[in-house]
Amino acid sequence: MRIASVKPFLVILMGFFLVVSCQNKAQVKKQSLATQEKLPFEEAQYRPSFHFTPNENWMNDPNGMFYLNNIYHLYFQYYPKGNTWGPMHWGHATSKDLVSWKEEQIALYPDDKGYIFSGSAVVDYLNSSGFGTKNKPPIVAVFTYHDPEIEKINGMMVESQAIAYSNDGGYHWTKYKDNPVIKNPGIRDFRDPKMSWDSIHKQWILILAAGNRDRFYVSKDLKHWNFQSEFGAEFGAHSGVWECPDFFPMQVYGTSQTKWILLQSINPGAPNGGSGTQYFVGDFDGKTFRLDPTFKNDLLKQKAIWLDYGRDNYAGVTWSDIPQIDGRRLFLGWMSNWDYAQKVPTKKWRSSMTIPRELKLLKQNGHYRMTSNPVNELQKYVSKTVNKKIVSVKNLTEIINHTQIDFFESQIEFDLNNLKKDNYVFLLQNSKGDTLEFGINLIDSFYFVDRTKTGINNFSDKFAKPISKAPIPQNINTFKVRMFLDKTSLELFFNDGETVFTNLFFIKTPFEEFTARSVKTPFKIENFTINQLSSNIKNVKK
Ligand code: FRU
Repeated sequence: MRIASVKPFLVILMGFFLVVSCQNKAQVKKQSLATQEKLPFEEAQYRPSFHFTPNENWMNDPNGMFYLNNIYHLYFQYYPKGNTWGPMHWGHATSKDLVSWKEEQIALYPDDKGYIFSGSAVVDYLNSSGFGTKNKPPIVAVFTYHDPEIEKINGMMVESQAIAYSNDGGYHWTKYKDNPVIKNPGIRDFRDPKMSWDSIHKQWILILAAGNRDRFYVSKDLKHWNFQSEFGAEFGAHSGVWECPDFFPMQVYGTSQTKWILLQSINPGAPNGGSGTQYFVGDFDGKTFRLDPTFKNDLLKQKAIWLDYGRDNYAGVTWSDIPQIDGRRLFLGWMSNWDYAQKVPTKKWRSSMTIPRELKLLKQNGHYRMTSNPVNELQKYVSKTVNKKIVSVKNLTEIINHTQIDFFESQIEFDLNNLKKDNYVFLLQNSKGDTLEFGINLIDSFYFVDRTKTGINNFSDKFAKPISKAPIPQNINTFKVRMFLDKTSLELFFNDGETVFTNLFFIKTPFEEFTARSVKTPFKIENFTINQLSSNIKNVKK
């Protein structure tokens, strides 16, 4: 081919790519605008697209999550009369795929015994409670009654456990006439019961937080509970109150071995400030939980091992009655932190949940570790790949994506072998000067998320700082992260969910630029992918 004929061909080709890339930009722009059109600022910029939020008012912990007839039920700590914490109800939402939610009628209202604090629910398939029939199994919920009158006079017996049942699959509830089913033994903080069917020992079990430890109970009928044992006073982080435990068996990934996991929220005392969730791995004989010796050893070095190192994943628990085909264990957390939850700059509603995650238990180099990854259901909402490429960050800074997107899924991967000790940083930025940074610091060996420059953060002096940091696990050869951005939140899953960060921020306008940077070392990103999520994800109010 003669050079002269190649030139026009190249021009046409370049023109074609320009049109395609402009089209992409135009489409992306349209996508962003579509979500903002005619909506008030906070709805457009702050209401998440694929995270559950109540239509209005205050929400905190997820409660009573169970699955029945292809529907995932989610209840939540709810105050329907205001956008800060108040007398607690259980709000209710349902979903067929864990991503699009429908808000239902309020499930439980406070009464003369107190507010309805956190708790759990199960499908009573064998009708052991007698509240239904075997053909129409009842749903049984257990929750904490928190008595504000006793609290006012500084009494001890503020909290006790009570049950309620539903005969229509979780939409209407009747409180049990002989409540409470677990009376307060004289412990001020005595709450957040999580019950489940222990199929190994063929019994109902219940764990609840009692001061600086957990208590275990067992039952045959969900109405009479017998105290068995305690766990935790001498293990883990203890600089705050223990709240919202969860307890379940898990198969060690790729083996036939089973271990028991205890999730334990604590506030304050999280690794990066305020509220956070630690976990323990051990064995359960039907009465007592004992730490696995290797995990006990790990705790001598680390004090506590955390499910999430971000600031905004608290009080998370798992769904009950998920068909155990692949041993699926599904987790959801409250995406906020008591340090500032009541001050974040949304008015109509306050708080959202994290994206639902699938938990796994791995044994690596003799250590047990939990991984959390976004549920696969999110995959079907990926509408198109906006950008996928290999990038050489030759000049220490490189714009890797230049389109305005307010929610996306993205991946970044690069080899860490032979890289100098440097700070490898990724920046999400907009024209208003807001910057969210995350990355890996190989000098001091930590992953980090820095939201100190993300726009509106003066609503609380506990919000911007500290920067979230997590130790880099040993033997990491690759920087590999999967992330979900949803307007005001970024959830980062490093190394297939081994290290997780969930963080909120309140930018002034959507991010427009994604940049890779290092201080002195050129590096090559082997995979940078950015996938747009479809805009028709809706949380509808009935
Ligand atoms: C955790 C928590 C629980 C309690 C609930 C009250 O965030 O403090 O211990 O049951 O919130 O809303």
